[in-house]
Amino acid sequence: MDNKSAHRLASVRDIDPGKTLCVEVDGREILICHTKKGFFAVDNLCSHAAARLCEGKLKGQKILCPLHGAAFDVRDGSALTRPASTQIDTFPIRVAGDDIILVSDS
Ligand code: FES
Repeated sequence: MDNKSAHRLASVRDIDPGKTLCVEVDGREILICHTKKGFFAVDNLCSHAAARLCEGKLKGQKILCPLHGAAFDVRDGSALTRPASTQIDTFPIRVAGDDIILVSDS
């Protein structure tokens, strides 16, 4: 039995390659990142001091924090550089037609 539910986050046309888009789901901000390897979704808050990553830069598969410059891999949320040492959450998404869908257990 499938207990997954889907939630439309955005259109693929809303996010140019190399850009990000912040969306809110149930009061939590999720950052969708459009990389050469596809779309990935991560928590919008840096694990170091809670800066909003939507104000940082996407470089390849990395999102750079605007406050102290930590880098995170958007594919798995891992912290790549100091001062961050804790990974950020990632969210499972998929593209269906033009839609970017958040898949969550329910
Ligand atoms: S708040 Fe992101 S590196 Fe400090």
